Amino acid sequence: MSRFPMPALTRRAFLASAAASVADAMLPVLWRSPVHAAAPQEVQLRAAPDRTRLMPGPSGEIAAWCYGGTVPGPEIRVRQGERLRVVVENGLAEETTVHWHGVRVPHAMDGVPHLTQKPIGAGERFVYEFDAVDAGTFWYHPHQRSFEQVERGLYGPLIIEEREPARVDRDVTWVLDDWRLTKSGAISEDFGNRHDIHHNGRVGNTVTINGRVPTTFAVRAGERIRLRLINAANARIFSPDFTGLQPIVIALDGQPVAPHAPDGGLVVLGPAMRADLILDMTGKPGRQVSIFDRFYEGLEYKLVDIAYSDTPLRERAPDWPLALPANPLPEPDLETASRNEVVFTGGMMGRMVAQDMGESMGPGAPGGTTRDMNSMMGGERMTQTMNSSTAWFINGIAADQARHDMKPALTLARNKNHVIAMTNATAWHHPIHLHGHSFRVISRNGQPTRHREWQDTVLVSPREKVEIAFVADNPGDWMFHCHILEHQAGGMMAVFRVA
Ligand code: C2O
Ligand code: CU
Repeated sequence: MSRFPMPALTRRAFLASAAASVADAMLPVLWRSPVHAAAPQEVQLRAAPDRTRLMPGPSGEIAAWCYGGTVPGPEIRVRQGERLRVVVENGLAEETTVHWHGVRVPHAMDGVPHLTQKPIGAGERFVYEFDAVDAGTFWYHPHQRSFEQVERGLYGPLIIEEREPARVDRDVTWVLDDWRLTKSGAISEDFGNRHDIHHNGRVGNTVTINGRVPTTFAVRAGERIRLRLINAANARIFSPDFTGLQPIVIALDGQPVAPHAPDGGLVVLGPAMRADLILDMTGKPGRQVSIFDRFYEGLEYKLVDIAYSDTPLRERAPDWPLALPANPLPEPDLETASRNEVVFTGGMMGRMVAQDMGESMGPGAPGGTTRDMNSMMGGERMTQTMNSSTAWFINGIAADQARHDMKPALTLARNKNHVIAMTNATAWHHPIHLHGHSFRVISRNGQPTRHREWQDTVLVSPREKVEIAFVADNPGDWMFHCHILEHQAGGMMAVFRVA
């Protein structure tokens, strides 16, 4: 992993003297009054330029684009089964949309410009309204020029509570992000530059939790916390190591999973991915423990310190049940599923990888993968006009980022079972996201996965082959793209039609 180049975190950011604790950066919560079955819960959300404070000190406040004046935007909370209505007002000087990442919404509410709606013009409004079908941890962000709009601060958490949530002492959301700041502390305006597009995307130099450079997170010994992690970064992959604590994963991408300790204790979160953890604070009162982010080998850094208060909450961890109730997802039947192959190519050093993957699979390789890869090496083709930012290909085709209304790459029969086998014939990681559906991740490199986890975004490693399965029950044209937003801008995007 060390071959992924990344600038070091700014010294300034981590020398921020006064303590900006994560607790200070509590998210404003848009709570609504108790359920009235018929009336939707209504929330106002205005996107506009504003200022936000990333850290203490005179240069700690920066110009950003905010939802409701804050980064992240307000935490929207509804209960499963409720209906949510969000009135979005565009106070930006350009078009925008809001996408409800991971939420199984009807097509017209999905927030994809030109594909599901006309973009919201400057000064205009748009009303989103949908049912909260699945409980879980979701988030919202623009789908218009997202490599710039998300990076400038437009994102926020959307929490759909279970009717009977797992019992915990505290339910905490951490929205993770990183920023690329210039020496003077402003957002660097080199959005979507050629280098970022062709490599691992825009990885920033200043990491924030809930919009603040964190220092400490206050806890009490014996406390049980449900920690909802959301990766809202354009490109950074996070892998927090909860040193000495034993996190138990209870949900991934909002969907319940059999409670388990993650491999090696590390929770790996690609851009757009979420994990719900149960953390029992088993440390000693008065102590401090550091959480390190260890994804990029050789570039580990301290994410935040956990600070125990002097007064314990209880003597030992509670033995409350961990498992969450299942969401109403249709179970895919692998026996009757149709299969489709999807191959990713392109990027820096991509030709080399595609070439030796093609060779190692040999001419008899299943599923036409070799043929696809060979034809791609002969010259990747594009549906839209070629430009210098074209870098990534899905089955040989690069999208033009300005055009989401593409000809479908696949047509999936509605209410039928589908397996999509994805091959990453590139030298880079890709968090691959499908709209409108959650899918089971059923295998990696031919090995069945242990938890057959439901995801809406799956991190595919270089040279890895991942199979996903789902019932295509949501009709419409759905985006399928890499959530490294610079890769998406560089062509790594397609449309799947469910009809
Ligand atoms: Cu989180 Cu197509 O997006
Ligand atoms: Cu990618």
